Amino acid sequence: MTDHYCVFGNPVHHSKSPLIHAAFARQTGEDIRYTARLAPLDGFALAVHAFIAGGGRGANITVPFKEEAFRLVPHRTPRAEMAGAVNTLVVTGVGIVGHNTDGIGLLRDLTLNLGCPVAGKRVLLLGAGGAARGVIGPLLETQPETLVIANRTVNKAKILARNFAHHGGISGCGYAELAGQSFDIVINATSASLVDSLPPLPTALFAPHSLAYEMMYGLGDTPFICFARSQGAEQCADGIGMLVEQAAEAFYIWRGVRPQSGPVIAMLRNTSV
Ligand code: ATR
Repeated sequence: MTDHYCVFGNPVHHSKSPLIHAAFARQTGEDIRYTARLAPLDGFALAVHAFIAGGGRGANITVPFKEEAFRLVPHRTPRAEMAGAVNTLVVTGVGIVGHNTDGIGLLRDLTLNLGCPVAGKRVLLLGAGGAARGVIGPLLETQPETLVIANRTVNKAKILARNFAHHGGISGCGYAELAGQSFDIVINATSASLVDSLPPLPTALFAPHSLAYEMMYGLGDTPFICFARSQGAEQCADGIGMLVEQAAEAFYIWRGVRPQSGPVIAMLRNTSV
């Protein structure tokens, strides 16, 4: 029997998840159907319960419902607890379990696709919103030399760093305090690129052989990527790999089969998301 999964969001028409999961299903021979579902802004919980009552086996959650999904589910994995957000639901015998696969998606992209392991590296994370919070735990698990969170609203970065202090070496600051420091991996988790903008970054931020990672995708060369290149970053990447890897992790949780992400990343790049 075909098992039904979906992604909930608002808006959701732009979501690449149906394309990605259809490709995973073709690749692995898993008998699933995956659709995009627009949940009303004030009707997310109802939409989830109706989907599950209708036989839905699991779901992905995208903007703006990840925090609401966190509050909705009766059970959460440690990664979801750390992120304070849920992007994957799975229906089990004990009820709905909430996972967060964003951080592991980033880590798999960095490590496996980009050949850039995080252990022992100096890592800078720009931004202190939901996107940043979702990846801090998994980044710290891989034991970077240091993880610095920089944000426009400095206090948010400091609070976030304090909340994760027991997981490893982490600090929070404003952009001005980055002057004189350099990093091996710089990850842009701000939404500045959406408005064609760039946080006020100092020069000399990128160490030799460094990687610049733009968590957004589909925006072409963002101001962050252009700045990184002009500053000598050796490798630049956008978030397509993370998008596919977080989906692959969700597919694995649901089906117990790990799909190959490489061909799907290539497919999305060729269809220019
Ligand atoms: P998300 O869930 O996508 O992370 P968010 O919670 O609204 O969205 O957070 C957006 C992040 O981008 C914040 O860190 C925000 O900085 P502030 O906390 O100071 O608002 C950051 N951001 C957005 N626009 C920015 C800009 N033009 N320059 C620098 N940082 C920006």
